[in-house]
Amino acid sequence: MGRCLHHSMAVRPLVRRTDGPPSAERIAYTACMSDETILDKQLAYYRARASEYDEWHRREGRYDRGDEHRRQWLAELDDARESLNRLRPFGRVLELACGTGLWTGELAAGADHVTAIDAAPETIEINRTKLANPRVRYVLADLFEWRPEECYDLIFFGFWLSHVPAERFERFWSTVCEALAPGGRVFFVDSLKTQQSTATNHAALTEAGTVERVLNDGRAFRIVKVFYDPERLTACLAARGWDAHIETTGSFFLYGTATRAPAADS
Ligand SMILES: C[S@@+](CC[C@H](N)C(=O)[O-])C[C@H]1O[C@@H](n2cnc3c(N)ncnc32)[C@H](O)[C@@H]1O
Repeated sequence: MGRCLHHSMAVRPLVRRTDGPPSAERIAYTACMSDETILDKQLAYYRARASEYDEWHRREGRYDRGDEHRRQWLAELDDARESLNRLRPFGRVLELACGTGLWTGELAAGADHVTAIDAAPETIEINRTKLANPRVRYVLADLFEWRPEECYDLIFFGFWLSHVPAERFERFWSTVCEALAPGGRVFFVDSLKTQQSTATNHAALTEAGTVERVLNDGRAFRIVKVFYDPERLTACLAARGWDAHIETTGSFFLYGTATRAPAADS
């Protein structure tokens, strides 16, 4: 998976343990990993995190910030889910970065069929086992390389756009456009920038475009995390021929629909 990145990103030590000072062995390890890209590290993180991923969603373990927080979090997720369900019937659905299936079941319930793509075999396996739904077809693919072979009426991505590096934003949306059937719609949901969303032992969030994430066992990974505000994202998409309507759920999430602006494809 060779990818071209900013030099500064490519040479950063991308993986290290946070438990204790750096040992000689650890420094040697980081040095020999330094030519790996942040996108490879990002995927490695999600592969390693697969079995603990849903703790984030359920606000358990390191994401537990109390009952009131959990109630609001789940209520806001429900708001996003309700907005998605207002687009039913979904028709032919493409889910990008499907993960462990937190949205795949919802999509499958309103779809003719779902093509669910992810680059982590571990998350696909959890998703497949959880859903056991013959209407869902899984594709193991790197979204930064993947090209669509079919068109879809609804393209969904949850908590994925924020993991697309800013310099790949344009290319990503071109791929989405290629995969969208005439009259098709895009729905996405993602994180607002709030420290309350992330694990209690994660560093303060910044606008740097990357964050350090830690697993339950202490392994740490630097990954992409670009935060958007609805207005800015709407404008970015409008400049690329998308008519987007983006809202927030209050504290934690933004969600939106996007369609091709009438003049964009003519
Ligand atoms: C934040 S999770 C979102 C999962 C799911 N959409 C959800 O809302 O729960 C990001 C997902 O992107 C996947 N991923 C990471 N890098 C990828 C890549 N290059 N191509 C495809 N999927 C990738 C990870 O395996 C992970 O499942």
